[in-house]
Amino acid sequence: EAAEKGGYEHFMIKEIHEQPKAIRDTLTRRIVADSDEIVLDDIKLTAEDLKNIDKIYIVACGTAYHAGLVGKYVIEKLARIPVEVDIASEFRYRDPIINERTLMMVISQSGETADTLAALREAKNRGARVIAITNVVGSSVAREADDILYTWAGPEIAVASTKAYVTQLIAIYIVALYLARLNGKMTVEEYRVIRDELLKLPEKAEEVLNRKEEIQKFAAKNYGHKDIFYLGRGLDFAVALEGALKIKEISYIHAEAYAAGELKHGPIALIDKGVPVIALATQEDLFEKMVSNIKEVVTRGAKVLGVAFDGHEDIEKVVDQTVYIPKTLPLLAPVLSVIPLQLLSYYTAVERGCDVDKPRNLAKSVTVE
Ligand code: G6P
Repeated sequence: EAAEKGGYEHFMIKEIHEQPKAIRDTLTRRIVADSDEIVLDDIKLTAEDLKNIDKIYIVACGTAYHAGLVGKYVIEKLARIPVEVDIASEFRYRDPIINERTLMMVISQSGETADTLAALREAKNRGARVIAITNVVGSSVAREADDILYTWAGPEIAVASTKAYVTQLIAIYIVALYLARLNGKMTVEEYRVIRDELLKLPEKAEEVLNRKEEIQKFAAKNYGHKDIFYLGRGLDFAVALEGALKIKEISYIHAEAYAAGELKHGPIALIDKGVPVIALATQEDLFEKMVSNIKEVVTRGAKVLGVAFDGHEDIEKVVDQTVYIPKTLPLLAPVLSVIPLQLLSYYTAVERGCDVDKPRNLAKSVTVE
């Protein structure tokens, strides 16, 4: 097992470090520098098919569901098609409005999650076309879907998903761009801007990993707390949810993620002296709004770790500590901003002496209901 860990102490930290490669592999041959074409071997959906689609459903469980939340923002923004995201175990039992005009996207690392598979079958029974995003070639989800986009994360051993999540995000960007080009909502110039930034992500993810000491410091100071809060707006909120899940899963700290604008409607009552708050502030059009929300928690004694793009040093006026990530398009920020949150969970769990790769009560793949 030590050999499989390739010199790392745990699979999770090894897999966190494999993310630049996983991102690159998932983009390879599909999004190509200097080419305006998106090449998807296993997606047969045509412009004609898309004309008959009026709604997209994204259905998944756990971390894959959190990737789906990013999918809603990205697909709606780029392809201008309404997207609903649902948890598979909810979707399958609530008589969803779905028919042959619906495109269903299921996301599953293993491709074997019982609820996700049942949701896929339910959608197919109702006439929807199904696209699967999965990491396992030939898995049940891959076999039963109409179209497939594989994430090339490689085998993920740690129960807490890291590299599978970032490759799910990459797959979502690829599908969103594909749909937007297919239905004419995006010009080729707009495509090129996003393409070029996507291709820089592996290198920028590597840079985030190089800055891990900041996170290690914060974890060493704060691992003893009982609660931790994650705040963000827009795409940052979707990432906040994933960050909170990650720390719950492996360090057993009670964590909650909130849309920062919702704070004053209840959760702010929980903010007390010394409570750690992770504030994501990568969405530039919402930056000032986030700064006001950070001030609200700081006034109540919270200890804030900010996550912001390089160049946004003004955040330091309101937070205790900042982790900077290299600048990219705000739309692509989740791929980079989730990495410090994964590292924070990892270092916190290690400080607390938890079994990082095999957390209590959790399974890597939930194939029974
Ligand atoms: C389990 C795992 C999670 C995962 C979820 C969905 O709960 O512990 O990490 O996100 O299942 O798994 P899937 O294979 O469908 O992505």
